[in-house]
Amino acid sequence: MTTQPFVRPYRPTDRQDLYDICIRTGEEGGDARHLYEDHGLLPSVFAGPYAELEPGLVFVVDGGDGRPVGYILGTSDTELFVERFRTEWLPAVAERYPHPAGPPLTPADRIAVLLHRPERMLLPELTSYPAHLHIDLLPGHQRAGFGRALMTRFLGALAEKGVPAVHLGMSPANTRARAFYDRVGFQEIPVQDAGPVTYLGRATGGGV
Ligand SMILES: CC(C)(COP(=O)(O)OP(=O)(O)OC[C@H]1O[C@@H](n2cnc3c(N)ncnc32)[C@H](O)[C@@H]1OP(=O)(O)O)[C@@H](O)C(=O)NCCC(=O)NCCS
Repeated sequence: MTTQPFVRPYRPTDRQDLYDICIRTGEEGGDARHLYEDHGLLPSVFAGPYAELEPGLVFVVDGGDGRPVGYILGTSDTELFVERFRTEWLPAVAERYPHPAGPPLTPADRIAVLLHRPERMLLPELTSYPAHLHIDLLPGHQRAGFGRALMTRFLGALAEKGVPAVHLGMSPANTRARAFYDRVGFQEIPVQDAGPVTYLGRATGGGV
């Protein structure tokens, strides 16, 4: 039976759709499939570890036919997540995605470097925002209120756990995502060694 799209908790059978959504929205919010020969690489950094390590914090937009068309996922504790990424997640994928032998020259090399250095997520300016998140919707389901609905659900789950604040990192070129984050209460966090990333954060309480 098909219904209207709705937000629901993640189920392990959603995993492949999560990976698919991740790669189809991975280039400044647009399709990244042309950039990576192996479409599993990007999701192995930005989706898989969250579904594996913190499945209770993954929510999806069910397209109405049982299959996800968008998700929000993240961790309630970035420091612990980094530790578990290194000890539990990385060993499971490192053989398929080895660290580049030389300087990273291709998009895939650059993502493989991120995969092998989870400690990059630990920045002193972010410690008072212990949680972090990623959110992606397929093009056909954007601008219909699902981003806000996912954010409401995710922040509620964090608040229930007693987590005070959340951060995210984004490419400054993704101006559409930035407009969304501005509308749902995020503000820029100045970070000295931010590299090519803008960091945003907000409290988990206070409405979306
Ligand atoms: C960014 C994204 C998560 C936003 O979700 P969404 O469902 O499209 O957004 P919503 O419909 O819930 O919009 C919520 C608010 O943000 C605003 N907004 C969303 N996208 C916007 C855009 N492109 N430009 C201006 N405002 C925007 C909406 O107008 C709405 O504001 P209002 O209700 O106060 O008027 C979604 O578009 C997406 O997945 N994009 C592609 C992947 C991506 O870029 N992910 C983020 C990576 S950092």
